[in-house]
Amino acid sequence: MTMQVRPLTDTLGAEIIGVDLAQPLDDVHKRELYRLFVDNAVVVFRDQHFTPQQFAAAAEIFGEIIPEQFPNYRLPEFPTVSFLSNSDLEKTGKKRAVRGEGFHTDHSNYEAPPKATILYGIDIPTSGGDTEFVSVQAAYDDLSAQTKQLIAGLRATHAYKSQRDQHKSTVLSADALAKTPSARHPLARFNPDNGRLGLFVNPGRVTGIDGMEEDAAFDLMDKLYAHATRGRHLYRHVWRKGDMVLWDNRSVLHQATTDYDMEERRYLYRVLLKGEVPLPAPRQAA
Ligand SMILES: [Fe+2]
Repeated sequence: MTMQVRPLTDTLGAEIIGVDLAQPLDDVHKRELYRLFVDNAVVVFRDQHFTPQQFAAAAEIFGEIIPEQFPNYRLPEFPTVSFLSNSDLEKTGKKRAVRGEGFHTDHSNYEAPPKATILYGIDIPTSGGDTEFVSVQAAYDDLSAQTKQLIAGLRATHAYKSQRDQHKSTVLSADALAKTPSARHPLARFNPDNGRLGLFVNPGRVTGIDGMEEDAAFDLMDKLYAHATRGRHLYRHVWRKGDMVLWDNRSVLHQATTDYDMEERRYLYRVLLKGEVPLPAPRQAA
């Protein structure tokens, strides 16, 4: 097998060419793919042909699949895999645009948020419905020394929904909401797989920063988020049927775009991979 790697931008993203993930791979190639994933943060494989089982097996090259939190988004025939669809009906009867609007990272309210998210395109609109990624590691590197020092050691609390979040999210009953986890995570998160720090910001879920007044905490969060999402280190994935895209949630934020004809179906398989408890910056050796 001859694997080719095509960088997608200067700072993040790689397309891997010449790999059929429905076929078994040896350990050497699996390790090579994992290295490409952690080094490039977003990895794209075109022209894949998967059953749900084959998609899950391809995902497992990169880690352990964790169950989708909402059972109604699991595939009935193979619940290990879940789906994203614009055909879900809201209570109003109007089509729901898409889950995942606004740059975010998945399930950061978990004690150990998912390391990676993986999508596989089944039905793709004629145009639009792209997914955008920004590198929070390149954004961290761009911060002034003063800001790096300011955020070193700070931890933010991530809950199911921030009190200041404007986005629609799946509405939970009070009982279900009370059962959702919340967690405190470092603002500067270390990715042990590539040795870099990244901004771990997620305004939809952050409810405060330890030791800071609420307004000051949200000001800081907003500034860091604006810095990370201004588009300097961005890859926009234009979907084609058969694309498998995986990304490292420790290294990028992502967002779905809604600029497409809602009469067209957009349907993708999705899995999340188990992650570790987010790590702060390692102590410098003396
Ligand atoms: Fe997402």
